[in-house]
Amino acid sequence: MSVNIAIFASGRGSNAKTIIEYFQDHPSIEVSLVISNKIQAPVLEMARSKGVSTLLIDRQGFYNGQSLLQVLDEFQIHLIILAGFLWLVPGYLIQAYPERILNIHPALLPKYGGKGMYGRHVHEAVKAAGERHSGITIHLVDEEYDRGKILFQTTCALTESDTPETIAQKIHKLEHEYFPLVIQQFIEERYSTEIEAAQS
Ligand code: GRF
Repeated sequence: MSVNIAIFASGRGSNAKTIIEYFQDHPSIEVSLVISNKIQAPVLEMARSKGVSTLLIDRQGFYNGQSLLQVLDEFQIHLIILAGFLWLVPGYLIQAYPERILNIHPALLPKYGGKGMYGRHVHEAVKAAGERHSGITIHLVDEEYDRGKILFQTTCALTESDTPETIAQKIHKLEHEYFPLVIQQFIEERYSTEIEAAQS
C-alpha cells in the first residue's frame, strides 16, 4: 500500500513534472493521478508520458462532485496537490479531504493572493510594488482563495532590473526545489502508519 497523490493542474505543469519525477522511485508515495480542467494543458501529455493516469474535468463535473469523488476513491487518493490549478476548490472536496489539499502560491502570502492573483498577475503586482523580495507559499486549502494555513514559505531577493518574467523564473526555481520536499515531509508526518505498512 502506498500514499497516493492526485495533482490538479491547469497549465504547463512544471511543478507537476518535478513532483512526479521526485516520487517516481519512492517505495511508499506515488503520484497516481493528474487532473486538469484544460484539454490542451501540456500537463496532461507530460503526465501520460510518465505513465501517470490522467483525467479531464469540466466545470459542471467539478462543482457537482459525485463523479470526481468516485474517481478519487477508485484511485485511493490520500492527498490532493494543487499545482497551478485555477478553479476555486468547492466545499464538498475540502470536506472530503480535510487538511489534505495543498496549494502552492508564487508569492509571499498573505500579500499578493486572492481572486485574480495567479501566474503573471502576481509577478506584475510584486514588480509594481517595488518589492525587494518575493517567494513561495505552500499552504492548506480552505474555501477561500489563498487563505488556508501556511505550511512553508521561502524567499528570493529581487533587484530593480527584475521583470515579471525574471521574477517568474526565480519563483519557479524555488517551487521546483521545495514543493516535492514539503509534500514529502507533510506525508511523513501525517501518514507514518501507511508508510511503515508499505515498507514492512
Ligand atoms: C506556479 O507558479 C504556481 O505557484 C502557481 O501556478 C504556477 C504553475 O506553474 N500556482 P507550472 O504549471 O507548474 O509550471
